Amino acid sequence: MKQDPVCMKNDMLRTLVTREELETTVARLGREITEDYRGKNPLLIAVLKGAFVFMADLIRQIDTPCTLDFMAVSSYGSGTESSGRVKIVKDLDTNIEGKDVIIVEDILDSGVTLSYLIPMLQTRRPASIRLCTLFDKPTRRKVPVYADYKGIEVPNEFIVGYGLDYGEHYRNYPEIAVLKPSVYSEE
Ligand code: PRP
Repeated sequence: MKQDPVCMKNDMLRTLVTREELETTVARLGREITEDYRGKNPLLIAVLKGAFVFMADLIRQIDTPCTLDFMAVSSYGSGTESSGRVKIVKDLDTNIEGKDVIIVEDILDSGVTLSYLIPMLQTRRPASIRLCTLFDKPTRRKVPVYADYKGIEVPNEFIVGYGLDYGEHYRNYPEIAVLKPSVYSEE
C-alpha cells in the first residue's frame, strides 16, 4: 500500500464530509435516540472496528441512561470490495434477552453484514432491535436492510476516515475523504 508516512491528507482526493457536518449529524442522531428511548435504558451495540469512533461520539449526544457492548464482524477482508462472507470475530459480553438494542454501524453498504447480524441477534430474544447507521451507500445494496436512524447518504466512492479504513489505515483521519485511486491501485 502506498501511504504517505507523514501526511494522510496527501492520499485523499477530496473531503466528502467535514468535521462540522459529522458533528451536526451525530448530534441529530443522538437527539432522535434520546427522544425515542427516554426511560428505556437501551443497549447500544457497536459493530467493530469501523463504528468505534461514531459510537464514542454518539453516546455523548444521548441524554438518557444507556449501556454499551461491542461485536466484531468481518465481511470485507482488507480490500475495497465486500467478499459477501460474514464471520463473527468477537461476540457480545452481554445477554441481550429483554433488552432494547440499538445496533450502531458506521456504514451500510451491500447490507450483507446486517442482514446476517440482525436475524442472528433476534434469536437471542431482545425486547427490540433498531439500527443506527452513520453512512448509507444505497446504490451498493444487494440485500434490503432498513435503518431506523440514518446519518448521511454517500455516493459509491471509496471513503475513509472517522473509523472507516482502507487496509486498516486512515481510521484516525478526522473527516470523511475519498481516497485517491492511486493509493489502492498501486499496491
Ligand atoms: C464495514 C462496515 C460494516 C460493513 C458494511 O465493516 O463497518 O460493518 O462493512 O458492509 P455491508 O453492508 O456490505 O455488509 P468491515 O467489514 O469493513 O470491517 P471494519 O468495520 O473492521 O472496517
